[in-house]
Amino acid sequence: MAAEKIVILTGAGISAESGLGTFRDEGGLWAQHRIEDVATPEGFARNPALVHSFYNARRVQAAEAAPNAAHEALARLQRDWPGEVVIVTQNVDGLHEKAGARAIHMHGELAGALCAACGQRWPAPMEMAPGTACPACTAPAGRPDIVWFGEIPYHMEIIAEHLQSCDLFASVGTSGQVYPAAGFVQEAAYSGAHTVELNLADSDISRAFDDHRIGPASEVVPAWVAELLASL
Ligand code: OAD
Repeated sequence: MAAEKIVILTGAGISAESGLGTFRDEGGLWAQHRIEDVATPEGFARNPALVHSFYNARRVQAAEAAPNAAHEALARLQRDWPGEVVIVTQNVDGLHEKAGARAIHMHGELAGALCAACGQRWPAPMEMAPGTACPACTAPAGRPDIVWFGEIPYHMEIIAEHLQSCDLFASVGTSGQVYPAAGFVQEAAYSGAHTVELNLADSDISRAFDDHRIGPASEVVPAWVAELLASL
């Protein structure tokens, strides 16, 4: 099976063992904060200070976090697999890059700032505040470069191309509750890819996958990567 193309979708579960909370597990971020308040453009317009403080706290946490064995295994796969390995992440924490991998960030990045007025992007300071001026147009319209509910995820065209041309699709640590990412398994399967879900427990969309590896990402991902590399 050498030189097969692999697409891997990752979600918050891959970073749980790096100490970053998931969204929907018990006590997760969405149990502590209302999505409407901190993850929508309307919430930002109503109370930018609250939204900035939510993402400032997450930026500090992410900066202090280290990748775990699952991030490292995916970086190894990307380096050692003879075919293409595309990592598409919903995560905004930057841990794939810290592990030495390249990832497509469909929900943006905590490390980025975005001008809501002109669309300019720049590296976010550790603490953003309401009224942060855009370095390009000077509008006081700086916001975290995060895709909020009601906004269109980034890089969808290139992701669709990868899904249509992959031979193997894997999903790691995501609940399958947020579209369009939750629909990727169907898109890949429709194009003939074998599909595998690696998750702590069954997700809402487990039935859509051909194969399942249940357990903590730090264990099941390195084992799966070792199996793939041994198959060469
Ligand atoms: P969720 O919090 O919805 O789901 C996390 C998944 O990871 C669950 O299925 C858990 O069972 C699993 N999990 C937890 N710990 C794990 C571990 N140690 N190893 C493996 N799996 C584990 O997070 P996402 O699916 O990433 O979007 O959420 C998708 C999007 O919803 C996020 O990108 C975010 C959120 O609202 C925005 O903010 C726009």
